[in-house]
Amino acid sequence: TGFRMALSLFTARGAIWTYARLGDPVARVLQPGTDPLPRWYDAVRQAGPVVRSRLGLWASASYPVVSEVVRDNRFGVVPLPEDPWTRLRPREALSTDSSIHPINDSFLSKDPPDHTRLRRLAAPWFTPRALRERVGRVEQVVERDLDRLDTSRPIDLITEFAVRVPIQVICDLLGIAEPQHERFARWGQVLGRTLDGVRTVRELRWLQQTVAEMGTFFDELLAHKRQHPGDDVMSDLLAARVDGAPVGPADLVATTQLLLVAGFETTVNLIGNGVLTLLSHPREKQRFLANPDLADNVVEEVLRYESPVQFTMRVAKEDVTLAGTLLRRHTPVLLLLSGANRDPAVFADRNRFDIGRENARDHLSFSGGIHYCLGAGLARIEGAVALRALFQRFPALELAGAPRPRSSRLIHGVGSLPVRCIAGR
Ligand code: HEM
Repeated sequence: TGFRMALSLFTARGAIWTYARLGDPVARVLQPGTDPLPRWYDAVRQAGPVVRSRLGLWASASYPVVSEVVRDNRFGVVPLPEDPWTRLRPREALSTDSSIHPINDSFLSKDPPDHTRLRRLAAPWFTPRALRERVGRVEQVVERDLDRLDTSRPIDLITEFAVRVPIQVICDLLGIAEPQHERFARWGQVLGRTLDGVRTVRELRWLQQTVAEMGTFFDELLAHKRQHPGDDVMSDLLAARVDGAPVGPADLVATTQLLLVAGFETTVNLIGNGVLTLLSHPREKQRFLANPDLADNVVEEVLRYESPVQFTMRVAKEDVTLAGTLLRRHTPVLLLLSGANRDPAVFADRNRFDIGRENARDHLSFSGGIHYCLGAGLARIEGAVALRALFQRFPALELAGAPRPRSSRLIHGVGSLPVRCIAGR
C-alpha cells in the first residue's frame, strides 16, 4: 500500500485514489468502480449541503442545493471535458484545453444569450407533439432489434440491443442513412467516452481522429441536404433563419454533434441499467411483467436509482452564498445528480428500488433549469418502449455472467451485460 500510495502521487488517477484512501467522500464518488456508491453520496451529503473536497472542488449531493444551482443564473456552465482532478494537478493532465472536445461548440456548454438562440433552433423536434409522432418509429426499431437477437447462446445486451436502439433513433432524427449508422455510433462512443477527461495520448489521438473524420462527413452531408432536404433536424437547421440570417455551418455541426453525444451513451445506459436493475430485483421485475403499463414508472425509477449521468458542474459567475457558504466568483461546483436522487429529504426509503414510487419523476437525472435535458421526452420513450418490449418478449431473460462496469465517472452504467434471452416465464 505504501508503494502504491507513493506511486500514485505521480499520476492524476493516483491522486484521486490517494484522496479516496484518505476518506474524501467526493473523491470516492469520482473514483471509477466505487461500490456501493450510495454510501458515498450519503457521506458527501452528511458532510454538509455544500462541501469542500480535498480535490480543491466544492460539491453537493443535496437535492435542494443541486436543484437550486442548476436553476440559478448566477451560475454558468463549465467546459468539458471536465476532469475534476485536472484542476488539482493541471500539469499532469494531458490537455486542459477545452477546445479539443467539440461538445464545447454546442449550446450545452454555453450560457445565454448563445444558449437560448441555439437551443430554440433544435427545440421544435422535441415538443410533446413531435415526440408522439416518433413513438411508432421507436417501436419499430426496438421490435426489429429484438427479432435479430440470438436466442441460442448468451449475448451482450449492451452491444446487441442497448447501443442499437438510440443510435437508430438519433440517426433517424438527423436524417442519416442506415449504411452510416455504424460509423456514427463509433464516433458517438468516442465523443461520449472523452467527456470526462482525455488522459492518455491514445485517447487524445482517438478524439482528434474522430473530430477530423466527422468534419469531412458533415461537410458532405450538409452539401447533400442542401440539394435534397428531408424531414430531419439537419434539413430544418439548414432552412432556419435567425434574425434573417441562416444558421452558420459551425453552429449547425455543433448542434448535430450535441444531439449525437447527449442522446447516445446516456440512453444506452438507461436501457442497460434498467435491465440489470430489474434482473437484480426479481419482485419488481415480476410486478413489471404482470403490468407492462408500468413501463413509464419503471423508467423514472431506473433514472432515479441508477442515474446514467452522475454529475454536472457549474461555476459561480459572481460571489454567491449557497446554503450558508460563500462561494467566490469563478468557483466551480460539482453537482451530484445521482446523489441528489438518493436524498432522504425527498425520496422515502431512498435506497429501495420501487417501480411504484409516486414521486420518482422528481429525480434530477435530466438536470434542471435552462439546460434541462432537451431529449428527456425522447429518452423516456426509448427507455419505456425498449424495456417493455424486451421483458414482454423474454420474460425469463437472465444474466449469463458478471456485468462489466464502465470505467467512467460521468456516465454510470455497465460496459457489457451478458444475458440469455429466454422466452418462457
Ligand atoms: C442535456 C441527461 C438523453 C439531448 C442533458 C443534461 C443531462 C442530460 C443531465 C444537462 C446537463 C447539465 O445541466 O449540465 C440525459 C440522460 C439521458 C439523455 C440521463 C438518457 C437517459 C438525451 C437524448 C437527447 C438529449 C435522447 C437527444 C436526442 C440533450 C441536449 C442537452 C441535454 C441537447 C443540452 C440541453 C441544454 O444545454 O440546453 N441531458 N440526457 N439527451 N440533453 Fe440529455
